Amino acid sequence: MLDGKKTLFSGMQATGTITLGNYLGALKNWLDLDKEYECFYSVVDLHSITVRQDPAELRKRARNLLMLYLAAGLDPEKNCIYYQSHVSAHAELGWILNCFTYMGELNRMTQFKDKAAKHADNINAGLYTYPVLMAADILLFQSDVVPVGADQKQHLEITRDIANRFNAIYGDVFTIPEPYIGKQGAKIMSLQDPTKKMSKSDENPNASIILLDDTDTIIRKFKRAVTDSEAIVRYSDDKPGISNLMTIYSTMTGKTYEEIEREFDGKGYGDFKLAVGEVVANGLKPIQDRFYELSKDKAYVDGIIKNNAEKANYYARKTLRKVQKKVGFPEMPR
Ligand code: TYM
Repeated sequence: MLDGKKTLFSGMQATGTITLGNYLGALKNWLDLDKEYECFYSVVDLHSITVRQDPAELRKRARNLLMLYLAAGLDPEKNCIYYQSHVSAHAELGWILNCFTYMGELNRMTQFKDKAAKHADNINAGLYTYPVLMAADILLFQSDVVPVGADQKQHLEITRDIANRFNAIYGDVFTIPEPYIGKQGAKIMSLQDPTKKMSKSDENPNASIILLDDTDTIIRKFKRAVTDSEAIVRYSDDKPGISNLMTIYSTMTGKTYEEIEREFDGKGYGDFKLAVGEVVANGLKPIQDRFYELSKDKAYVDGIIKNNAEKANYYARKTLRKVQKKVGFPEMPR
């Protein structure tokens, strides 16, 4: 809660171009929430350097991600869209919260275990304390709600634990946030291995639909999607490939699984895969068009970056100052 208004925070990493999973699990659910909440959406570049990045590439991807937020339909007048690195309070609160987080808690984080296994040559302390920085992101804005995909649930739980611990010592400092996980699309799976989540960092380019993929690429990737040999479009736990495609189709069209089963009754997987590809390509096209328009308007995007960073800084520093006072840091003498 900020200034009497319910608040919301979410963010994405710019470690690659975002996927259809990021879109359906998070970004698509962000649209319209500005009616009810004061919304903050960050490009979380501090988180990105927990794995090694090429600086020029990171800068480019981060700007593209910010433009994709806008292109997807977030109105920058009503949503505060900014780079995490422009608001130093994230790192400052992150440090303080590190001192209120136990190693035992961090040891349980599955995302750390996964990433450590993947980047065995660079298991740095930042990767380990990543969830604490994420807690700082959320608590800095006194967020009531955090719209994310299902994979972030554990990070939301530790955020709540840290906030409750801090509040138990110092009084009501932080709003305790709730996760907001969409009913559908919360976990979009890889097109090549439907037991694994679709991920920006997948090495197999056919595994993920990238938000900027062109129509032909999208259709080709869906055609190659791994399914099963039953050849009946039916939602079932033992048909993860088809079920994933049905989830994508359903989330894009609003049709229920029963409606989709009826629509493709008697038809083969070829027809269904083509239909999914077309629905996704048509759904992403306006976002892509807007993205390329924005790419040409440097001054407009720069203006948004500057204004929104100022707004984010204003609110972030307010919470940070409150926390600093509570833990006993002195005021700067006037
Ligand atoms: P990131 O960048 O991995 O993903 C961004 C958002 O996309 C969701 N998501 C998915 N949803 C459905 N299916 C998938 N296959 C899929 N893959 C990703 C994620 O759940 C997320 O909502 N740690 C976060 C970034 C972050 C953050 C925060 C989020 C940093 N601070 C504070 C919320 C609040 C991350 O790495 O997300």
